[in-house]
Amino acid sequence: MATTRPKKTYRDLVVGFAQVGAESEWRTGNTASIKEAAEELGVELIFADGQQSQENQIKAIRTFIAQQVDVIGVSPVVENGWDSVFQEARDAGIPIILVDRRANVDESLYATHLGSDFVEEGRNAARVMAKLLNGKGNIVELTGTTGSAPAIDRYKGFREIMQEYPEIHIIASVDGDFTRARGKEAMADLLKQYGSQINALYAHNDDMAIGAIKAIEEYGLQPGVDIKIVSIDAIRDAFQAMIDGKLNATVECNPLLGPKFFELALKVVNGEAVPKWIPSSESIFYPENAREILPSRKY
Ligand code: AHR
Repeated sequence: MATTRPKKTYRDLVVGFAQVGAESEWRTGNTASIKEAAEELGVELIFADGQQSQENQIKAIRTFIAQQVDVIGVSPVVENGWDSVFQEARDAGIPIILVDRRANVDESLYATHLGSDFVEEGRNAARVMAKLLNGKGNIVELTGTTGSAPAIDRYKGFREIMQEYPEIHIIASVDGDFTRARGKEAMADLLKQYGSQINALYAHNDDMAIGAIKAIEEYGLQPGVDIKIVSIDAIRDAFQAMIDGKLNATVECNPLLGPKFFELALKVVNGEAVPKWIPSSESIFYPENAREILPSRKY
């Protein structure tokens, strides 16, 4: 007679999570969401901070495999180079869940992907920017970490829409690594090179936009006025920048993935079917109602 294995509960789960690092406020919010959800649900979480290094993340995954965790969550810092370690997890019978960022691997190597539609975020940023510029002007772009899924997709989505605007030109695109410090540095260089030719800035995240705002002020121009700015994430500081008139819009990217991640982990461990991709539903925010919305923002 066939015996059915009893279903696991949250309290039975041991989950390893290989995080990207702490490069942005978004990431801090994402880490907090994962840790808080584990605590609330009673899941045993083994958390590893990859400090923006793929090598560190791969090492962490190998440690989780040796520890025989039930599920591994990972937000891959870059898209490529995961095949071998994901295969090792598969061989050990440990499902991988991609959280936030995608990995460029065969679909059989992961159970599901929980995260935003980064291409659509890029398209939305472009739609807003085209309106702000009345269809005409020069844009500089600060991209996220080279080779990362959000940087690749936000670059692509933005250009898809901008093709429809022949009088808008993307005159420069520079890696700002998703950090405030790099955003400021890169914008200062761009201002030195292009000065008042720059009409707008598209930043792949709010942190880089906030760094760039400082560089624009130090250069003697008014961010949000002389240079229109659209960025992505919708962190609390972006709302403050909009209230201060320094940022023209932020496209939301939701980091509060903790509860859904553990719900999926439990389903996967218990052999329940899950979709291959669970995108988040996200909005666009503008200065007009930033003051009213800010108090309710959780990250
Ligand atoms: O992968 C999501 C991106 O990573 C966020 O937009 C950015 O702020 C973070 O560092």
